[in-house]
Amino acid sequence: MESALGLDSYQATMMILVFVVLGLGIGALFLALFLPVRWKLKYWMEFAFVGLLFVFVGYGDWRSAEIVEAYQAEMAQAGVLDEPALEGASDFDQEIKVIAFQWGFAFLTEGNEISRNAAVVQPGETILFRIFSNDVIHGFNIPAVGITAEFDPGKERDVWIRAPLEPGKYLIQCLNYCGIGHAQMKAWLVVEGAES
Ligand code: CUA
Repeated sequence: MESALGLDSYQATMMILVFVVLGLGIGALFLALFLPVRWKLKYWMEFAFVGLLFVFVGYGDWRSAEIVEAYQAEMAQAGVLDEPALEGASDFDQEIKVIAFQWGFAFLTEGNEISRNAAVVQPGETILFRIFSNDVIHGFNIPAVGITAEFDPGKERDVWIRAPLEPGKYLIQCLNYCGIGHAQMKAWLVVEGAES
């Protein structure tokens, strides 16, 4: 179940728990500072508090690993990751698969190298981006080269660009509101310098 913020029920639960614990922690701090009688947490409470944080972090880590695996399995089943190159794709200097998800981009090169946040290209190169999403509608916008695409989940969207001639890092961003992490959904088009 997804909420209006684009959170899964488990994500919403985690956020509520984190805020509750944060509130309790801040409350305890204020009590310790402002109660007339000097008041101190019992040691076991401090240990319990730290233990609780470890449980949260551990659970979050386990859960995100599980989500990534499920995601990859779904992609593999859909045949997205090992689809052959498109006809005519050889006209481009490089073909990069883009997996858009809540919330980020992953780039898969022809050599099957995967990068979580950067598409590395050469100056002036023509690049075919084959973009997929399997959760919600995302956008793909590179202001420096003037392209914007929107794509539905479960379908491929292809866009091509000519890389800027000037080496550097250029912003890639999602332009469709896709949940609470939308503003963080960014990556870089890295145009390599002549020396690298
Ligand atoms: Cu993806 Cu906004």
